[in-house]
Amino acid sequence: MNILVVDDEAEQLNSLRVGLKSWGFKVFEALNAEDALKHLNHGPEKIDIVITDYVMPGMNGMELLKKIREKNNTLPVILMTAYGEKDLVIDALRNSCNSFIEKPFTLDQLLKEIDRVIFSMHQNINSRQLDGLIPKLVHQINNYLFCISGNVELAIYDLDNTEAIKKHFSNIIEATKKIQSINRKILTAGKGTEDKVEMVEIRELLHDCIKMFEDLMTLKGVSMEKDLNRRYLYVSGNRFELEQLFENLILNAIDSMDGRLEKQLRITAKFDQHTSSSSVSIEDTGCGITNESMNKIFTSYFTSKKKGAGLGLSVVKDIVEKHKGEIKVKSQIGKGTTSKAVFPAVRPESTQSGCSN
Ligand SMILES: Nc1ncnc2c1ncn2[C@@H]1O[C@H](COP(=O)(O)OP(=O)(O)OP(=O)(O)O)[C@@H](O)[C@H]1O
Ligand SMILES: [Mg+2]
Repeated sequence: MNILVVDDEAEQLNSLRVGLKSWGFKVFEALNAEDALKHLNHGPEKIDIVITDYVMPGMNGMELLKKIREKNNTLPVILMTAYGEKDLVIDALRNSCNSFIEKPFTLDQLLKEIDRVIFSMHQNINSRQLDGLIPKLVHQINNYLFCISGNVELAIYDLDNTEAIKKHFSNIIEATKKIQSINRKILTAGKGTEDKVEMVEIRELLHDCIKMFEDLMTLKGVSMEKDLNRRYLYVSGNRFELEQLFENLILNAIDSMDGRLEKQLRITAKFDQHTSSSSVSIEDTGCGITNESMNKIFTSYFTSKKKGAGLGLSVVKDIVEKHKGEIKVKSQIGKGTTSKAVFPAVRPESTQSGCSN
């Protein structure tokens, strides 16, 4: 962790440097606020915490804090004050100062303060991340609940057909497993748990996604065509997230064809040798997207649907970016929409599926 210490007294600066270094921090020094700002704006390394004296010739510690906050709201700043400077503390709090330490202090006291600031900084980052993440995870649960209710409806309709009932029940079990996985994600969110990254075979994954919503398509009268690469198609990433990505695109395509005469969904998966990329296109013959809406579709909470949350495509965008890919949407009003996700291809040694190409 990089700490910038700002103090006009060389002796004090020296003893802080030695002490903080011995605790494993990388210490940068400035003898005045102007130099500190130069360092923050153009220094060789990013600073993680600033510890500054209050009384300094020229710009004092409070003015330095205000200057920092003009550009950076999150960089932790600890102000070193003299005993009993109450008004100063109030002013500093108004300017989002993270902490104070009264002089004279021991190195131990300073370290405790730094620990406290780092801890609350992480908590803030975690809660900010959770604020954005939780609605998206809840949205994903809703997609599977949608699938479950569709299958229950069909099961009631197919009561005399044991085979059909078995299929609906197995879809319901699959959907509940997915919800359990999302719940696990919610429980571990913000705890720094990394998602598993593996070689994901895209054709097989698409097959599972389609299976999940096949009955919904039957219910809505949507016919589907697949044109999947003849060889294995690999993307390096998290299987569960990639599933969520394609399921959101498929659900949007199905929704777009509500009330249309022609309801055709086409899923294409390809490898492009020139760009060394794998792509999946989801094409529908739905209502299409207006030019005005096109600029907003990836924004969280933008929806044109009565019951939409407007989160599906922002989930898609997050996942595509996490997988170093790209998402392109082309649409023609009244004709339909094609959403294409492109990923850098991965070619493991044994990618032959047995058929020649
Ligand atoms: N294939 C499509 N055809 C037509 N419009 C689409 C299509 N995909 C996305 N859109 C438009 O983009 C908007 C945002 O999509 P997004 O998936 O983010 O949210 P939503 O589908 O409205 O709600 P939900 O949160 O349930 O997914 C949709 O409301 C719709 O207007
Ligand atoms: Mg959607």
